[in-house]
Amino acid sequence: MSNNTIKELEALKAIEMDAGEVFSGKESGRKIIGYEKRGSFTPEEDRNYIFHDSSRDVVVWFINPSDPLYLFGPTGCGKTSLIRQLASKLNYPVFEITGHSRLEFPDMIGHFSVENGNMTFQYGPLALAMKFGGLFLLNEIDLLDPATAAGLNTVLDGAPLCVPENNGELINPHPNFRFAATANTNGASDETGLYQGTLRQNIAFLDRFWLCEVMYPEAKAENQLLERAHPDLPVSIREKMVAFAGEVRKLFMGGENASANLSDRIEVTFSTRTLLRWADLTLRFQPLMSQGIKPINYALDRALGYRATRESRTVLHELVQRIFTE
Ligand SMILES: Nc1ncnc2c1ncn2[C@@H]1O[C@H](COP(=O)(O)OP(=O)(O)OP(=O)(O)O)[C@@H](O)[C@H]1O
Ligand SMILES: [Mg+2]
Repeated sequence: MSNNTIKELEALKAIEMDAGEVFSGKESGRKIIGYEKRGSFTPEEDRNYIFHDSSRDVVVWFINPSDPLYLFGPTGCGKTSLIRQLASKLNYPVFEITGHSRLEFPDMIGHFSVENGNMTFQYGPLALAMKFGGLFLLNEIDLLDPATAAGLNTVLDGAPLCVPENNGELINPHPNFRFAATANTNGASDETGLYQGTLRQNIAFLDRFWLCEVMYPEAKAENQLLERAHPDLPVSIREKMVAFAGEVRKLFMGGENASANLSDRIEVTFSTRTLLRWADLTLRFQPLMSQGIKPINYALDRALGYRATRESRTVLHELVQRIFTE
């Protein structure tokens, strides 16, 4: 980490903002901490971003983050991007890392490395957020080895961080330090068997978090999202794509919610990420129409279908046929 980066972090200036003004453009009288300027660690703003209902919880958390936050929900529903986009509005610096089974403490705290021939200590994302004030975002926290995760307990309780590798430096948590985690499961192991690698976490560790469930955005929000991301796609196609995504999610969640004649459960789901990809590929494959290929079906296989079993793929194509000829 260069001296310039450290200087930039040392110069961070927190300010009080009006929460209503920041998030909805209307003054609310509710104060929230943000930063005066954007910097290298402020997430890029995504102008197409649509804030879902769960943003409410996260905004309330940002206003008064008494506990660390644990966001969970299905893949591609927008957990990571929600935190990044809210932080971006506040110019908040975000120090991010993604969990995996071999992730260890030094990956979060830092380690020595050689810089210009000298050994210098490189702070990791957790240490940076605690030292300079910022949001530590730990993605896929349920992939962590539960013992490593439980090693975070004291930090989650608000205690200082001891960095034995850096001569036992003690980092007191900055008042603007925030800790948010995302995961596909609520930490109590995966019931579907589809989120391979997730582990049941230690209950004392989980007890320290404020929980927030994020679901796929409502159809209205997804229609808006497609309109912003792919205005060239006709409205009727966009609406059908969103309806299709909704049906696939029901089939994924289980039979009772699914439409009457398609009661089988399928093992793939339709994330917002996949929806955006499907729309994008459908536009890109338009030229294939001249060869008698249907871009919507062709793009569907490439966006999702090829990941499904043959049986589920047939179900997907029957569904597309039904929705798009209605
Ligand atoms: N509300 C939204 N508005 C705009 N884009 C969105 C929205 N929700 C999700 N996306 C887009 O969908 C993609 C997936 O979102 P994101 O990475 O936040 O999902 P996630 O829930 O963290 O998924 P995973 O569990 O797989 O990590 C991103 O490209 C993101 O920009
Ligand atoms: Mg994520």
